[in-house]
Amino acid sequence: MRIHTTIAEFRAALKGGIALVPTMGNLHEGHIALMRQAKELADTVVATIFVNRLQFRPTDDFEKYPRTFEADCEKLDAAGVGHLFAPSEVEMYPQPQEYHVEPPPSQAGILDGEFRPGHFRGVATVVLKLFNIATPRVALFGKKDYQQLMVIRNMVRELNLSVEIAAGETVRAADGLALSSRNGYLSPAERAEAPRLQRELARVRQALLAGERDFARLEEQAMAELRANGWIPNYVAVRNRVDLQCPAAHDSELVVLGAALLGSTRLIDNLEV
Ligand code: PAF
Repeated sequence: MRIHTTIAEFRAALKGGIALVPTMGNLHEGHIALMRQAKELADTVVATIFVNRLQFRPTDDFEKYPRTFEADCEKLDAAGVGHLFAPSEVEMYPQPQEYHVEPPPSQAGILDGEFRPGHFRGVATVVLKLFNIATPRVALFGKKDYQQLMVIRNMVRELNLSVEIAAGETVRAADGLALSSRNGYLSPAERAEAPRLQRELARVRQALLAGERDFARLEEQAMAELRANGWIPNYVAVRNRVDLQCPAAHDSELVVLGAALLGSTRLIDNLEV
């Protein structure tokens, strides 16, 4: 695998037909599944590793976000990824970033955006920069970050970017917990409790499939169950898949999303209905 750390050298090495998989590193099987999917979509697979300060608030976990570069390179090599772009902060942000992509509050101010103000602005801005740097034909993002995927799809459509967006399914541990770099923060007891979030979302999903349409009641029941087991839920929400707005009773393309704190670790998950 070739590792590039400067934009100039990275651009010179690449020509067309690229599938890009942006990451912040600390790679797990969910990322590797995206790499495999990328290999099906283009001749050249490019992974990026960049912990993007812009998408963290001062109170977030930017400094303690796990950085495991050597192990990540081994995993990417084993997955047959040809190129890794791993820029420094100075390479990505040589001067303070004053131009930003500002997703509309209707998309970026809801759900996770309500609890992490500015997060999707930081994500959209760095993703647009990565698209401009790598000029991929296709870029892949996991469904685990469902709102992020929606914001990026809409950015691409509204700004007429010539990149196709492909979505990867969420990869789960045997007990149902969605793989995430933040799972590493969990104590053994919290790790044992963590699959409850997915189980509560699955309960809501089952009720919806059975025809239940009192969304508020289902959401509140799931949050009460989480609270009763020591979680601090941010939200459990039934939404339309396409725009994550509140559905009408007759809408059918739904997704149930949840975010909750377990100890000091914030976990998110979702299930399409
Ligand atoms: O999903 C992530 O890891 C990040 O939000 C992304 C898309 C790499 C942008 O920094």
